[in-house]
Amino acid sequence: MKYNQKDFYYNKAKKEGFKARAAYKLMQIQQRFKIIKQGDSVLDIACAPGSWLQVIKKLTNGIIVGIDLEKIKPIPRVKFIQADINKIELDQKFNVVVSDIAPKTSGIKKMDQDISYDLSLQALELARKVLIKNGNFVTKNFQGNDTKKLQLEMKKYFKTVKTYTPEATRQGSKEVYLIGLNYYIH
Ligand SMILES: C[S@@+](CC[C@H](N)C(=O)[O-])C[C@H]1O[C@@H](n2cnc3c(N)ncnc32)[C@H](O)[C@@H]1O
Repeated sequence: MKYNQKDFYYNKAKKEGFKARAAYKLMQIQQRFKIIKQGDSVLDIACAPGSWLQVIKKLTNGIIVGIDLEKIKPIPRVKFIQADINKIELDQKFNVVVSDIAPKTSGIKKMDQDISYDLSLQALELARKVLIKNGNFVTKNFQGNDTKKLQLEMKKYFKTVKTYTPEATRQGSKEVYLIGLNYYIH
């Protein structure tokens, strides 16, 4: 990323009415992997402040549910649940689960990577409970030694697993997204 990219996506989000620049990461993931189809029901794990929910609304008229520890301002057509993803039980099934889950960073690289790995695994665990067959899953991970482990874990459950860093990711950021396509165990 070039120096101005941070400002570029920040300003673009402001101009286009998105709650965060993160919106463009999901748009770029969608453009590349077509994870969400019209009519899909989508669960957004760790959705606050809600920019991914805004993008999801444009892609599907299906059911949309968001979960986060932090409260969000209501978004029409979105059911929001304030909860820890570890403590939630959902009866609903979904075509797609997306997770931009991230810890509050400590600045200690290894510690942040370890927590990110745990959170990504928790997101995968929740996704496995609610995804329908052939559903898709995306999760964020702070790149480290465990990223490969996470990828291998996802390969047990998805026909295709890819890693992807959207152009909208900040320069120097270690985040990477793991994309699981076609869930085949349920
Ligand atoms: C990068 S932000 C998500 C941004 C969001 N995708 C958007 O576009 O607005 C990461 C979120 O993960 C949430 N989070 C972290 N741990 C969580 C947990 N155990 N359960 C639920 N949410 C969690 C944080 O509260 C934070 O809002």
